[in-house]
Amino acid sequence: MHHGLPRKFFSALLIVMLSLTGCAERTYQRMNDPSRDVWQKPQGVVEKLAIVRGSRVADLGAGGGYFTWHLAKAVGPRGTVYAVDIEEIAINMIFKEMAARGTPNVRPVRAEPHDPRLPEPVDLVFSCNTYHQMDDRVAYFRSLASSLRPGGRVAILDLYPRGFVPDLFDHRVEKEEVRREMEDAGYLLVGDYDLIDRQHFQIFAKTES
Ligand SMILES: C[S@@+](CC[C@H](N)C(=O)[O-])C[C@H]1O[C@@H](n2cnc3c(N)ncnc32)[C@H](O)[C@@H]1O
Repeated sequence: MHHGLPRKFFSALLIVMLSLTGCAERTYQRMNDPSRDVWQKPQGVVEKLAIVRGSRVADLGAGGGYFTWHLAKAVGPRGTVYAVDIEEIAINMIFKEMAARGTPNVRPVRAEPHDPRLPEPVDLVFSCNTYHQMDDRVAYFRSLASSLRPGGRVAILDLYPRGFVPDLFDHRVEKEEVRREMEDAGYLLVGDYDLIDRQHFQIFAKTES
């Protein structure tokens, strides 16, 4: 179900509140808290992604970079991870963290809501807790297919919908909705993992036309 106006209204309200209180950076820092590892199982997730060393990966909606560093490790020094986000504050956090960690294989990319602005096609687009925030998803992912290399895949993790209150502020998405939309956008489901209690985790491949 699409909540249309309420979803947009409450998302906008949340962004205004976060900007006014200056806590957006703190929100990203909370997302990066190491205690998240307990339920998020980042190593398990990256294992399922079966990333080939030297490959190019986009972390779509990278936020503060929680998964970016795990992906950077998996692609190795000859690979590249594009940390893509529409928020300047997220991009700045990634730059800061890159300097602290000395991670030369990460490239932050400031995206537009309808365009990831990837500088080159990638082998894998990975996206965690971002899909539900995106508009016009079928059109977005249909067009993203041109940014995938042959055999390219898209991995989507997102939170299971749960209750009324969180949904008012941050519309969540059912696993089946993701699958339906991705199929409409021209992808095939190639992996569906029950790894994380709070999130569905599906991998899609582009159908060759
Ligand atoms: C809830 S955060 C998740 C961050 C990170 N993936 C994680 O798991 O910690 C969602 C992020 O997606 C970004 N985002 C939303 N829509 C986007 C879009 N169309 N393209 C790129 N990033 C987007 C937001 O700015 C935000 O940083």
